[in-house]
Amino acid sequence: MKSNREFATLAVHAGEAPCPATGALDTPIYQSTTFVAADSDEMSAVYAGEKFGYMYTRYGNPTVRALEEKLAALEGGEAALAFASGMAGISSAIMGYVKAGDHVVATRMLYGAAYNFLNKKLPRMGAEVTFVPTARVDDLERAIRPNTRVIYFETPSNPTLEVVDIAALAKMAKARGIPTIMDNTFASPALQQPLALGVTVAVHSATKYLCGHGDAMGGIVAGPKDFISELVHEVIRDYGGVISPFNAWLILRGIRTLHLRMPAHCANAQRIAEFLAAHPRIERVHYPGLASHPGHEVARRQMRAFGAMISFEAKGGYEAGKRVMDRVQLFARAASLGDTRSLIVHSASTSHRAVPRAERLAMGITDGLVRLSVGVEAAEDLLADLDQALT
Ligand SMILES: Cc1ncc(COP(=O)(O)O)c(C=O)c1O
Repeated sequence: MKSNREFATLAVHAGEAPCPATGALDTPIYQSTTFVAADSDEMSAVYAGEKFGYMYTRYGNPTVRALEEKLAALEGGEAALAFASGMAGISSAIMGYVKAGDHVVATRMLYGAAYNFLNKKLPRMGAEVTFVPTARVDDLERAIRPNTRVIYFETPSNPTLEVVDIAALAKMAKARGIPTIMDNTFASPALQQPLALGVTVAVHSATKYLCGHGDAMGGIVAGPKDFISELVHEVIRDYGGVISPFNAWLILRGIRTLHLRMPAHCANAQRIAEFLAAHPRIERVHYPGLASHPGHEVARRQMRAFGAMISFEAKGGYEAGKRVMDRVQLFARAASLGDTRSLIVHSASTSHRAVPRAERLAMGITDGLVRLSVGVEAAEDLLADLDQALT
């Protein structure tokens, strides 16, 4: 599919075509681990990469391939690779660049497992990581060393919704010849296109907005052809974090309505953020769509809309935050995000329970912080639910 088509057209059509053998309009689920060759010469040519073909699903699968082509088109990348989960994609993308003796610069405001991978797993492999506690490009630049191999960041960040200036960071990194990897999960390509802003590689938890319905895990890495090909040959085949064809098919199906879901998610979130900002029981709201957010102007420049993740601090600290989570009736008390259904988590008592308090506070996750993933229900019902939970 030509990549100059509009985003909505690409979301519906890219990577997919009617089955030439049967005419099936929808992409078939190729639920097969292996693929038959006509003879030994053909199999040998496929193994050697001299002929395009499928041989074993860990090496490639037609349903998975459709998802990869759709994501490459939506992210505007030369190529994309699908993984079993967001973390499989994120760890593989980092390992695609980093080896023993290398150094990584990362923002501190990261999804917890990505932080753990960088903080605990990479050092075991002999690489060092410097975490920068702000979203400022000059602070990230100061952390660069001669052996810095990659800069890793996410924007807006989970769960404090900090915003990094993508174009400014990508420009600084490019000038120093350092590749950038950005987690685009919170925005999705419908709202934000990191590769067009100069980022080298975009990563996703496809489990979230791309899938959109909370029923399949997946991960995506999109970027330059050479890098993706290296991941295919050097990482995914040996580490083995491949997505199942059925999950790839569910995510493909979800993406066809991404451009319709995201505006509905964002419109609900804007109303909820404004309602919370004016609520007497709320101390602070973190949402890039509020003019009071420190990253508002940057977000306005780099995002089509401000997303549907909100976090807020309830007055009364730990107990107040926990109470809001306990009292909602429509929001589901559940981890994850990007579902059509609205979800709520009080971070200190759940997702960040095991993080020492001082460390948690340094990450901006206060005792009363509550994170919302705003769904596509009627805004009035979501507002009424939060209002009754707060009062
Ligand atoms: C921003 C972000 N990136 C990555 C991940 C990891 O994705 P997965 O759970 O699909 O491995 C998550 C999961 O919550 C996330 O919120």
